[in-house]
Amino acid sequence: MTQKILVLPGDGIGPEITAQASRILAACQARGLDVEVEEALVGGSAYDEHGEPLPAVTLDKAKAADAILLGAVGGPKWDKLEDLAKRPEKGLLGLRKNLGLFANLRPAITYPQLASASSLKPELVAGLDIMIVRELTGGIYFGQPRGIEERDGQRVGFNTYVYSESEIERIGRVAFELAQKRGKRLCSVDKANVLEVTILWREVMERLAPEYPDVELSHMYVDNAAMQLVRAPKQFDLMVTGNMFGDILSDAAAMLTGSIGMLPSASLNESGQGMYEPCHGSAPDIAGKGIANPLATILSVAMMLRYSLSEPELAARIEAAVGKVLDDGLRTADIASEGMRTVSTVQMGDAVLAAFEAE
Ligand code: NAD
Ligand code: IPM
Ligand code: MN
Repeated sequence: MTQKILVLPGDGIGPEITAQASRILAACQARGLDVEVEEALVGGSAYDEHGEPLPAVTLDKAKAADAILLGAVGGPKWDKLEDLAKRPEKGLLGLRKNLGLFANLRPAITYPQLASASSLKPELVAGLDIMIVRELTGGIYFGQPRGIEERDGQRVGFNTYVYSESEIERIGRVAFELAQKRGKRLCSVDKANVLEVTILWREVMERLAPEYPDVELSHMYVDNAAMQLVRAPKQFDLMVTGNMFGDILSDAAAMLTGSIGMLPSASLNESGQGMYEPCHGSAPDIAGKGIANPLATILSVAMMLRYSLSEPELAARIEAAVGKVLDDGLRTADIASEGMRTVSTVQMGDAVLAAFEAE
């Protein structure tokens, strides 16, 4: 049966990088992938057109899609919007919440060719393969009450960090099950020395552990985890954590791979529907220059093929094509190094496509 894919380019570099990923998707179609691809607006571009960052027409299409590919949203043009609900980022958060995309998988894999592109010493990152499992529809991002209000003659801002046992359990199960398929070492990251919500988090993880006896569960405070990630990242196999800690730790982990432009992600719900996006943002500082790295988005297509479309061979083919292009010495500016050829976004897309076809 034909499956439906919705592409949401978004803002800033979003359209530039999704254009390259869409070419790979089209090449997969030419090789028999039975999908129908549609595009829609989200974020600032949707606000400009419809007055909403997540118009009903986009949400309806997203709900009907088997998988979604998203570029990035946001930018200075919309940062001053007084009504927070109209900000581009709310479009992304609305998609995650409305589709129940609670499980965010962010693999930080250092391609051997890029070990020297990392800001860390090559020997610390060569061979790195970490999976960060980030809870995506709860925690402080969505907790109530929240707001800014007048109290005792001054304004106060407040958010609520809340997780229910069932929310913790379902992300915990995703992490344990993934750990069983990998190195079987799961590190749960929390702040249980200070925050009650993460005392509960740790308790639930401990309660689940006996059901996965082959997985070794450990716990780490988030501040130490941030330090350990840059001290000795290869100690980690899989990390599971809440929404905000996962956001921060995955950007840190991105640099271990050479660039934030290398980190793809999958966001899954309970029925296996997924949204796929690079971990980085709309990069306003380089938008329109044609120099953004499209590989995180292209690798997100590979994750889509693996997790939503049951096409592991096509996924592996894309990943191999990316490896080949790096072997050939092509680099976008963010991963440029001496002796390598610095290329544009489109040239990188051309090269991956050619390598994919030649596989
Ligand atoms: P960012 O990730 O957009 O950029 C951080 C730095 O990384 C910039 O110097 C940028 O040029 C660079 N960078 C990012 N992606 C790159 C790529 N593919 N190739 C080369 N360099 C790349 O983070 P920011 O500057 O904090 O945020 C910019 C905007 O993006 C904000 O509006 C923010 O809310 C939004 N944002 C959106 C998402 C998303 O849509 N998923 C994620 C993060 C940030
Ligand atoms: C990400 C982004 C988003 C987040 C923002 C844009 C809402 O930083 O996808 O990592 O914080 O989740
Ligand atoms: Mn982020």
